[in-house]
Amino acid sequence: MNVVGTLPQMRDLSRRWHLAGETIALVPTMGALHAGHLALVAAASRECTRVVVSIFVNPTQFGPTEDFSRYPRDLDGDLRALSGLKVDAVFVPSAEGMYGPGFQTSVELAHLPRHLCGLTRTNHFGGVALVVAKLFNVVRPDVAVFGLKDYQQVRVIEQMVADLDQDVRILRHPTLREPDGLAMSSRNRYLSPADRATAPTLYATLQAIAGAVAGGATDAIRLAADGRARLEAAGFVPEYLALCSPETLDEVVTIEGPVLVAVAARLGATRLIDNLVAVPGGSPAAVSPAS
Ligand code: PAJ
Repeated sequence: MNVVGTLPQMRDLSRRWHLAGETIALVPTMGALHAGHLALVAAASRECTRVVVSIFVNPTQFGPTEDFSRYPRDLDGDLRALSGLKVDAVFVPSAEGMYGPGFQTSVELAHLPRHLCGLTRTNHFGGVALVVAKLFNVVRPDVAVFGLKDYQQVRVIEQMVADLDQDVRILRHPTLREPDGLAMSSRNRYLSPADRATAPTLYATLQAIAGAVAGGATDAIRLAADGRARLEAAGFVPEYLALCSPETLDEVVTIEGPVLVAVAARLGATRLIDNLVAVPGGSPAAVSPAS
């Protein structure tokens, strides 16, 4: 497994692989790897002959009051976690390498970031789109794998790729969960034992909404309000709980087809997000691809 620290080295490696007829799958991450990330890596290895995992805590996607400085960083642990998998290169660029002096280009989407997490994290998706566009330019992947836990991020990347004619196929990967339903996240380690015990209520609330939609409920505003009340009663501070179009993320008022049910809520100092796609008249199995 190559650990590649500079952009020219990564670009060179990618060029050599392409010239040799190899295909490249990229899994972009910010490290602190858990089983959810590793599932993306395993999926990548089924798609292409070479797998690149990038580890970069991207400063441009964090707001001034967010957790950039205390985001968990453990490169040795990450390399150990990856060592059992088929990974050909771990790309670990420096912040200076990615954003040199005088850097001034942005990648902005007009609509998708104006929903859900983008309402409070105003520069977040611009930062994500920028760093992912740069990673695509350096690594030149044929396929890039993203987790549906960050559903809005997946939609932003898919839209960017379509709008900018980027030659990469985006593979959506289902969310990996703990046995009690909590979506795996690098931030779960910040939960106190009491909050950890409460945390599965987040997914349980989404599942209850999916059950109601499957049973014929159509009043999305009511379902969202009931869900928020349930979360508040359990001790969460909800940021949003919304039912929206899985494509545009525009809010849905009356449910007539599949809806994305997305939530962000604070538990103590930790912000958790989750989502699923609820299907009218749908069985739980029909819901699972996006859960
Ligand atoms: P990070 O939070 O490290 O996540 C890296 C990838 O792992 C993302 O595609 C994310 O959706 C996926 N992932 C996280 N938890 C998951 C889970 N429980 N199940 C399945 N997939 C999961 O997302 C980012 O980093 C950054 O924004 C990045 C895309 C790397 C750009 O900086």
